[in-house]
Amino acid sequence: MENVDFNSRYWDGSYDWNGGGEEWSEMWGGSRAQWLGSLYPRVSAFLPAKNVLEIAPGFGRWTRFLLAASDSYQGIDLSQECVDACIRRFENAPHARFMKNNGSSLETVADGSIDFIFSFDSLVHASTDVLDAYIPQIIAKLSSRGAAFIHHSNWLDAGKGLPNDHGRAIDVSHRAVLDTIDLHGGRMLIQEMINWGAGPCTDCLTTFCRREAYSGWESTSLENSEFMHEGNYIRQFQSPYSHIAMLGNRL
Ligand SMILES: C[S@@+](CC[C@H](N)C(=O)[O-])C[C@H]1O[C@@H](n2cnc3c(N)ncnc32)[C@H](O)[C@@H]1O
Repeated sequence: MENVDFNSRYWDGSYDWNGGGEEWSEMWGGSRAQWLGSLYPRVSAFLPAKNVLEIAPGFGRWTRFLLAASDSYQGIDLSQECVDACIRRFENAPHARFMKNNGSSLETVADGSIDFIFSFDSLVHASTDVLDAYIPQIIAKLSSRGAAFIHHSNWLDAGKGLPNDHGRAIDVSHRAVLDTIDLHGGRMLIQEMINWGAGPCTDCLTTFCRREAYSGWESTSLENSEFMHEGNYIRQFQSPYSHIAMLGNRL
């Protein structure tokens, strides 16, 4: 897969990981503030969870929070550099396991075993063929009450003609992701289109489960062009509290 080869070359050897990914949280005033103010409110229905799988953890920006909210954690990334960094960073977490994959396979994870699957700021770079490979496996890995939250591109719908400064996969749309989920026995719980930088909603957060799970819930679509404003508010009014917590060495 061309997209996998590109991501592999870029994230394993080319990218300067000195910042550990924290550089991508500056807008929110740091990863702790971003987790508590932006991400956790969107995934709190599913955490804590017994078994968590993170796809593409990078250097573990979200892993520390997922580890604190799980009995067992697996992180799978196509970059050996990232896997090695996470093994070092989380060496004191006996319930964590990090594995390198080929950029499209979850074969090391048992079917029906995962209560929460999380991926943020990674699969936005994944093209349709990669998502088409991952989504059926994600559904198969979920437990009966499990759910997945994935951040992916919506460039095909919203990005045409814009400068693609953040490397979004250009052939992915929110509708195509929904169709793939549906085709493979899944069901969307919430799909939130979000902006990244100024402009239209080129990104998307899709939360989904097995078709029979959460039967009382009606699938909900949201178009949120305020995602960056939310980040601004979090940086201005929440991140100072996070900085106190970090001084006290809290998560
Ligand atoms: C921008 S970094 C984000 C890392 C982490 N999620 C974060 O937010 O800090 C992108 C990560 O996705 C991984 N990645 C990209 N494509 C992937 C794929 N097809 N399968 C697994 N990992 C992938 C890269 O190796 C890298 O670790």
